[in-house]
Amino acid sequence: MINVADYLEAAREKVPPEVWCYFEGGAGDEVTLRGNVAAFERWQLRPRMLVDVSGVTAATTLLGTEVASPLGIAPFAMQALLDPDGELATARAAAAAGALMCVSTLTTRTHAAIREAAPDGPRWFQLYVLKDRSRTLDHMREAREAGYSALVLTVDAPYIGRRERDLRLGFQNPPPDLDLPYANLFEMTPALTWRDLEWIRAEVPLPLVLKGILTREDAELAVEHGADAVWVSNHGGRQLDGVPAGLEALPEVAEAVAGRCEVYVDGGIRRGTDVLKALALGANAAFAARPFACALAVDGETGVAHALSLLRDEIELGLGLLGCTSPEQVTRAHVQPSPS
Ligand SMILES: Cc1cc2nc3c(=O)[nH]c(=O)nc-3n(C[C@H](O)[C@H](O)[C@H](O)COP(=O)(O)O)c2cc1C
Repeated sequence: MINVADYLEAAREKVPPEVWCYFEGGAGDEVTLRGNVAAFERWQLRPRMLVDVSGVTAATTLLGTEVASPLGIAPFAMQALLDPDGELATARAAAAAGALMCVSTLTTRTHAAIREAAPDGPRWFQLYVLKDRSRTLDHMREAREAGYSALVLTVDAPYIGRRERDLRLGFQNPPPDLDLPYANLFEMTPALTWRDLEWIRAEVPLPLVLKGILTREDAELAVEHGADAVWVSNHGGRQLDGVPAGLEALPEVAEAVAGRCEVYVDGGIRRGTDVLKALALGANAAFAARPFACALAVDGETGVAHALSLLRDEIELGLGLLGCTSPEQVTRAHVQPSPS
């Protein structure tokens, strides 16, 4: 396993197709799914020479949380379908690497069990608000007790995208014999609005991240409503097909935010150099899901640890070759559009 693409290929061979479709697939014609990966090829890096890069580090701070790398693990659901330890394996690998892990509402392990498995890892909690608000409240309280350092509210899933691979291969969602302690995919409310941010904040007094923002208009509203970070994402091409890649929406969001809160991006990141392009276009950090899902499927905790170290090494090497000693030093001048 030399890179993330190797894990992708191995996972495709190992996991039964009627399960793998859920992890790999996207919505509709998967135009956005493909677009996420393709977007990175439309930017080139502009490296600067004769800079002393002997002290290069990928370490940074996100909302006050110290992390070893500006690439975190995006929330992805139902990890026990890929490994018997599920989220516990991912949490152990992330904690050992000092990498930020976002734990999904659709986790197959409880927050308490994750905390016990990896007490010291930097972790954020991804919230889906359910139609049943009292269950949502219980969930928020349980998460608060588990010591997460930020709350990531996913705002792009009032309904679930139509994922045709799952339909064709008969993937049942939720899988009948899988324990989901907090919720399943079809319990989310379609009635969430900006006004609901207030009661969420009151219940979980943690930094609030809004995940799934794709426009300058919503970025502006997020800042006005006191978001501590905006996470540019199209949910890995799994929700509305035909929207821009995360990387394509990033510049307008970063411009609208204008430094008033942190900005993250995900979708299609498979290389350390992809992370550098995201940083150059205005992100404080990037996230990935499928690379870690593949690694978890192939080799459990060891696989996730290896994927994290491969990507962190790629980021560090890339920073050094770009003429930067830290993620903060990457600027807009470090990229240019590829000639078409
Ligand atoms: C199998 C799978 C499950 C996901 N589950 C969630 C989830 O529970 N909550 C959420 O906010 N995003 C979820 N996502 C979206 C990811 O957090 C992320 O936005 C996206 O996958 C990033 O793109 P990438 O997979 O190309 O890295 C999921 C993605 C995948 C692939």
